[in-house]
Amino acid sequence: MKKLIVANWKMNPSTYKEAEDLISEILKGVKSAKATIVICPPFTWLTDFSHKNKSKILFGAQDVFYKDQGAFTGEISPKMLKSSLVDYVIVGHSERRKYFHEANEVINKKLRAVLEAKLTPIFCVGEQEVHEKSHVLEQQLTEGLKGISSKQVKSMVITYEPLFAISTSGGQVVSVEDTISSVLLIKSIISKLYNRDTADSVRVIYGGSVTIKNSASYLKESVISGVLVGGASLNAQEFIDIVKSAR
Ligand code: PGA
Repeated sequence: MKKLIVANWKMNPSTYKEAEDLISEILKGVKSAKATIVICPPFTWLTDFSHKNKSKILFGAQDVFYKDQGAFTGEISPKMLKSSLVDYVIVGHSERRKYFHEANEVINKKLRAVLEAKLTPIFCVGEQEVHEKSHVLEQQLTEGLKGISSKQVKSMVITYEPLFAISTSGGQVVSVEDTISSVLLIKSIISKLYNRDTADSVRVIYGGSVTIKNSASYLKESVISGVLVGGASLNAQEFIDIVKSAR
């Protein structure tokens, strides 16, 4: 299966013009990419970009609400994303958990709504402190996946991304060896919650300070299905090189 490279632009860049330049430069550079590329720009530009470039690349949202429509000021529904030609949705990013107090229960509702709308969730899990890894992963997966079928789990992407590894929250990049052991831990929890077949099928990617200096070392590992790139995805050339580092 092709590696998955997800660009999480977060709340960047600050103008439409810069965002337009960034997407067009990226598109030029990834024409013959061997990886599956998903760009997650801010909502303001998502529909515009996805309608203009749908045939060239895939798009994702950085968050979503769990209702289809209604009186929920400021929110965006999975149905709206679907009709805006979006394919992927990041759910449970550690910045949402930390700054917007998103708990596992809300994340579970979002995951279910995203799956219901036939979108692919990129479900982020990871500890805040190194010592709490296994307990936190177990809890985030058990509570986050409540009521979600094995078939649905097989279709989703799980990102292992501890908060301290994010470039703007410490940048303590997780070594390839530790990432592999975390991916295997995630798969063993999925195996306990579901079965071995589900654990083998679910794609687990790594996120946290991925740059051109380290991307190839994660991407060459068969157990790591791809990478989620934040800061480095805002530099078109670096992101293109990261995509090219997937062979
Ligand atoms: P980073 O962010 O690559 O800048 O560490 C990754 C993320 O938070 O998704």
